[in-house]
Amino acid sequence: MSVVSASPFLSQDLESPARQRRHTLPASEFRPLNPQDAISVFEIEKEAFISVSGECPLHLDEVRHFLTLCPELSLGWFELGRLVAFIIGSLWDEDRLTTDALTLHKPHGHTVHIHVLAVHRTFRQQGKGSILIWRYLQYLRCLPYVRRAVLMCEDILVPFYKKSGFKVVGPCAITVAHLTFTEMQFAIRGHAYMRRNSQF
Ligand SMILES: CC(C)(COP(=O)(O)OP(=O)(O)OC[C@H]1O[C@@H](n2cnc3c(N)ncnc32)[C@H](O)[C@@H]1OP(=O)(O)O)[C@@H](O)C(=O)NCCC(=O)NCCS
Repeated sequence: MSVVSASPFLSQDLESPARQRRHTLPASEFRPLNPQDAISVFEIEKEAFISVSGECPLHLDEVRHFLTLCPELSLGWFELGRLVAFIIGSLWDEDRLTTDALTLHKPHGHTVHIHVLAVHRTFRQQGKGSILIWRYLQYLRCLPYVRRAVLMCEDILVPFYKKSGFKVVGPCAITVAHLTFTEMQFAIRGHAYMRRNSQF
């Protein structure tokens, strides 16, 4: 089964014959990303991160890398065919994030590492980031091998992720240039496992 046909992101309307006959772009569409989306992803990243701090979570080749290896762990929000927000994840197989997690996809891991969530500048503060992460977490519940989602973020964004149900794990071991991060996690399943490994 292809990634797209297995995806719960496509509404029935998009798959109906009536929809297939129509040639206009859908007003709003959620779907996994593919390597052809990498440039649109990177355009948003450049504005969101590089223009602010000179760094970004994933460079263009890394975006292509993850969208080739594990497109099913990404999610894009398109409006009239234009990418307005996205998430890129990969699998990780250790309790805590280390620098290897920034570049590796561990196919046998049970943890989804969310590398980046970003909303196009003109669409921020409209609830899109919260909606996208909610849909993504709902989707992860459909993947039997996923136990939890983890991410690292700057302290200022901890309240944003807490509102989406993430809990603080502790200071992240990874630093990028002068930036430090907090590691956060969201339990997908296996609550006993989560309790054993959570310090907070
Ligand atoms: C962070 C981001 C994804 C949030 O998406 P969004 O669609 O603007 O967020 P929502 O409209 O769903 O939620 C807005 C809430 O997030 C908080 N928030 C958003 N960006 C924030 C920021 N840079 N600093 C602090 N809080 C922020 C707001 O305070 C707001 O909270 P409120 O509802 O209590 O006012 C978006 O601002 C973005 O893409 N930023 C640049 C990239 C980035 O920093 N990504 C996160 C990497 S870990």
